[in-house]
Amino acid sequence: MSSAPTDRDYVLGTHDGEINRLGLQHRVWRPTMLAAWQRAGLTTGAHFLDVGAGPGFATLDAAEITGPTGRVIAVERSARFVASARERTREHAQVSVHEVDLMQDEIPAQEIDVAWCRWVASFVASPAQLVQRIAAALRPGGRVVFHEYIDYASWRYLPARPRAAEFVREVMASWRAAGGEPDVADRLPPLLAEHGCRIVHAQPQVFCARPADFTWQWPAAFIEVNLDRLVELKRADAAWAQAVREELRAAESDPTSLVVTPMVLELIAEKRG
Ligand SMILES: C[S@@+](CC[C@H](N)C(=O)[O-])C[C@H]1O[C@@H](n2cnc3c(N)ncnc32)[C@H](O)[C@@H]1O
Repeated sequence: MSSAPTDRDYVLGTHDGEINRLGLQHRVWRPTMLAAWQRAGLTTGAHFLDVGAGPGFATLDAAEITGPTGRVIAVERSARFVASARERTREHAQVSVHEVDLMQDEIPAQEIDVAWCRWVASFVASPAQLVQRIAAALRPGGRVVFHEYIDYASWRYLPARPRAAEFVREVMASWRAAGGEPDVADRLPPLLAEHGCRIVHAQPQVFCARPADFTWQWPAAFIEVNLDRLVELKRADAAWAQAVREELRAAESDPTSLVVTPMVLELIAEKRG
């Protein structure tokens, strides 16, 4: 289903194509995410908060790890994503999914052991408010794990693909036009300090993949889904979208191609006691 943008949509949309893309993206990133959660101390019985949970792919993993003695709270603004996350986690009674706009509402959670925030800060008007709300939900000694972009323009193809480079610039411009900031991660360390959280781990996460690698599919799927979205938002025309697609096909059919992915900064911070 295709949907026109609404005030509760985020810039990438909430249609089925975007839900499927978020699922693929989650599967590519899952090992990195699970390693980060282990570093943050996530275990059976923990109280977990998924901030801007989307359709709940990570929420389900958290429910399986924390188990029936744990508690998983997911907050998400889009009603479509909330419904999808509830459906995905319906067999886990310890999961609750709340329709919350993080820029307007408090997070209905307290004494959280581990909070998780991935690819959300880029899309909110106030990262400061986001960090303040997450910090307020943590227990003293609780930890927050962020995976947010630090250098979106690191995304490039080798050999160089000029249309793909235009696409990356256009995506960054579209997020900024919607009030977000792609390279938002550099704002997080001072905000975390301001809200009583000390960084205990920081690591850039970037992949380099060939067309035959599963990781290749992450940026490829993003291009496929978001070309349509950019046309829908009238930020691009169909002829340009077709030219980007053809260039991506050319890259995929050349086994010597490489893609370097947009750089994410992994941050783990602990709330002071
Ligand atoms: C790129 S998706 C990431 C979803 C999920 N965190 C994941 O990693 O798959 C960004 C999510 O942030 C949500 N979001 C954006 N602004 C929000 C806000 N103000 N309040 C709550 N959720 C928001 C969007 O609805 C969307 O689900």
